[in-house]
Amino acid sequence: MGNKISKLQVSNFRNLQGDIIHFGAKINCIFGENGNGKTNILEAIYVLALKKSFRKNSSFPQFLGIDGEKPEIIISSVFHDKNNEAFSYSARLLQDSSEWSVNGKPVKKRPEIALVFVNPSDAYQFHNQSSFRRSWFDQHIGMLDSEYKKLLSKYTTILRNRNTLLSKKPSHYHQQLDVLDEMMASTSFEILEKRKHFIAEIGGFCKQAFQDVFSENHELKISLESKFLNCSVEQIQKILQENRPKEELMGFTKNGIHKDDYVLLFDGYNSYEFCSLGQQKMSYLSLLFAYVELFRYKFMSFPIVLIDDVSGELDSERWQRLVHFLERSQFQVLITTANEKFKEELDKIEGAQKIIVHAGTIITPAE
Ligand SMILES: Nc1ncnc2c1ncn2[C@@H]1O[C@H](COP(=O)(O)OP(=O)(O)OP(=O)(O)O)[C@@H](O)[C@H]1O
Ligand SMILES: [Mg+2]
Repeated sequence: MGNKISKLQVSNFRNLQGDIIHFGAKINCIFGENGNGKTNILEAIYVLALKKSFRKNSSFPQFLGIDGEKPEIIISSVFHDKNNEAFSYSARLLQDSSEWSVNGKPVKKRPEIALVFVNPSDAYQFHNQSSFRRSWFDQHIGMLDSEYKKLLSKYTTILRNRNTLLSKKPSHYHQQLDVLDEMMASTSFEILEKRKHFIAEIGGFCKQAFQDVFSENHELKISLESKFLNCSVEQIQKILQENRPKEELMGFTKNGIHKDDYVLLFDGYNSYEFCSLGQQKMSYLSLLFAYVELFRYKFMSFPIVLIDDVSGELDSERWQRLVHFLERSQFQVLITTANEKFKEELDKIEGAQKIIVHAGTIITPAE
């Protein structure tokens, strides 16, 4: 019940040496010392599914293996859809282009592969950077709602055009701004409705997720902070127009739903100000698993869950609870660690697929 990956092979991708990696249907533990290629494996899957990396400033030149003979990366895989139907899926990446194939035939529209990903610094960034939170929510709402993605890209275009008018001030720009503000107001309204809806929906799963993962009773809530909350389209348009003189001086749009923020409330307290690092990590992971549940609720299938060494800040009791939670869960998970103690915990999981990576080479079971 859910997307799964069963095989991966790459050529010329970072330090990975091109071995075929076999994944089990449930828990896959990826072990290896620092700098040996664990994250690179997750990254290759992420690039295949989403056509971009989770690492900052990463694209073809950074992906391409230093020792590669050809300036060409191939990532091939076998996935299973939610009906457990297998299909092969591959990408050929070049400096300026890419080709994607399903079952050996080139495709324009890539198959939708639902992934959630978490890396060691995400909890920290989530708690410390509003821009990270904003893109977290945009990305995750977008995975549930393709209409949201369209609205967001429409908004981005409007915003870009509005900023150009505000900074360049071509002739008749006021009339053009009037038109844009009307569009911006209605798009903002629709986006806000979807954000509110998402928060209400995921809110229902958060407390349970905390309880399920960490066996602790904590209330986890999310609230949306927006200057336009509960405004009608007309009211939003009015605010945009009132802000215009100031924004004309600054030459860009200062106020808009691109500045919305989200507050995570931990037992009613703002978790950005109140939580310890361990609590921040637990809250973030619970939010992520709440999202996985919401995804299942919507699509009757699970996304693939990629967990890149999240053991930091958590004590061994929390590791154990996390491991037990993963054992009880039905989704496929790929979890990495370089931490010997956490590895011991993961090693106890019966039936888990173990993958050891050393200098980009896969050492564990071929089948
Ligand atoms: N384009 C590239 N070509 C070859 N090697 C690369 C390339 N990009 C990164 N590497 C190498 O990949 C390795 C990093 O791999 P990765 O991030 O997967 O390590 P890791 O096993 O996750 O380590 P950690 O436990 O520290 O997170 C480094 O040794 C780095 O030098
Ligand atoms: Mg890593």
